[in-house]
Amino acid sequence: MNAPSDHHTPSPCSVVVLISGSGSNLQALIESASEGGYRIAAVVSNKADAFGLTRAKEAGIPTAVLSHLAYANREDFDSALTRIIDNFQPRLVVLAGFMRILSSAFVSHYAGRLINIHPSLLPDFPGINTHQRALDANVTRHGASVHFVTEELDGGPVIARHSIPVVPADTPESLAARVLEQEHRLYPKVVAWFASGDLKMTERGARHANITLPHTHEIE
Ligand code: GRF
Repeated sequence: MNAPSDHHTPSPCSVVVLISGSGSNLQALIESASEGGYRIAAVVSNKADAFGLTRAKEAGIPTAVLSHLAYANREDFDSALTRIIDNFQPRLVVLAGFMRILSSAFVSHYAGRLINIHPSLLPDFPGINTHQRALDANVTRHGASVHFVTEELDGGPVIARHSIPVVPADTPESLAARVLEQEHRLYPKVVAWFASGDLKMTERGARHANITLPHTHEIE
């Protein structure tokens, strides 16, 4: 039998979250952290006025701002960003409304431990204006996807999606609001999977609990 002093709780997975704006996904991640077995070590924004910074401060999480405007090119900004992130020694880097295209050096530095949430059912509608584009395409379902980040914009292996019906009265705004609500449920679940050590990026796609996930993998 182990002496009581041999028992210890494994330390939670440390996560750095990158934002550019409101940070409502960050808020959802903050609220689920202890239950999900992860700890948000820092929040980094490329915009000084991002409301997500206020959310982080209120939760007692260290913040940093690194303006891309101060850098001559993407590579220099990304390498400064990498230094800031790596100071916190995260196991996972989470993009939560971080409105930057990432250099290949950045993506390969964090390969397999960099995830993003995107407001569409990938591979449909990568890029911006996803809600308007979904309406223009007359889709009957729309939603959000969490994926590992690779060099292809919004193109890395999908980990999980959640879909909602599109109704005739929908506008880009109404769709955005309903999708965002689902993002707030989806993202903490995926981060908790990663924290448990069960989620990996492989050449054949995302793998959870030893099962390779199809890109259509949908969760409640
Ligand atoms: C979300 O719709 C997310 O999918 C996209 O940017 C938005 C960020 O919203 N990548 P918030 O800053 O988390 O409120």
